[in-house]
Amino acid sequence: MSYEVRQFEPSDINSVVTINRTCLPENYPEQFFMGLHYHAPKAFLVATIEESVIGYIMCRIERGISNYGRLPVKKGHIVSVAVMPELREQGIGTKLIVTALEEMSNYGATEYFLEVRKSNSEAVSVYETLCFDIKKVLRGYYRDGEDAYLMSKKGSEEVEDSAIE
Ligand SMILES: CC(C)(COP(=O)(O)OP(=O)(O)OC[C@H]1O[C@@H](n2cnc3c(N)ncnc32)[C@H](O)[C@@H]1OP(=O)(O)O)[C@@H](O)C(=O)NCCC(=O)NCCS
Repeated sequence: MSYEVRQFEPSDINSVVTINRTCLPENYPEQFFMGLHYHAPKAFLVATIEESVIGYIMCRIERGISNYGRLPVKKGHIVSVAVMPELREQGIGTKLIVTALEEMSNYGATEYFLEVRKSNSEAVSVYETLCFDIKKVLRGYYRDGEDAYLMSKKGSEEVEDSAIE
């Protein structure tokens, strides 16, 4: 099945909200998606098959102390990613994540992180394949009380002071 990955457009909002509600218990109002698009449009991507949206990833660029040292850095946060159930295990999720990492690097992120349910072994395995490591357990992170793994990955570029505004 041939698919494409492109930047999210505001007209995709209904499809993205539907995929989010279908695939994840963490759901958000439309303004949340649009706010992330406003914040980092190039790192909000959709996957399409014959122009139908079947997956998305949205991200935020955040400043904070590095998970790999003591310096403040720009970090790329994968806020949400999902692919429709019937279209999984074909590499679409990986393509969305890899493309988003590149775009977050273009925004100056030098490392990446995300939270994932401990029980979500499929997602954890995809992230491990992409060289994300489990950094810590966030106890009771989700509303239903489940723990999250905080997973992170270092960017391939060396941290340069000039990259940090
Ligand atoms: C996590 C998620 C986005 C992954 O999407 P996906 O499109 O299935 O991801 P991929 O196809 O790239 O990879 C999934 C697995 O399929 C395998 N795969 C990839 N291409 C394949 C192919 N052509 N044939 C068979 N398997 C394949 C990958 O190796 C991977 O397995 P592994 O990581 O155990 O090695 C998807 O499972 C999902 O939407 N889950 C629900 C929402 C969710 O949990 N999001 C993450 C919250 S943090």
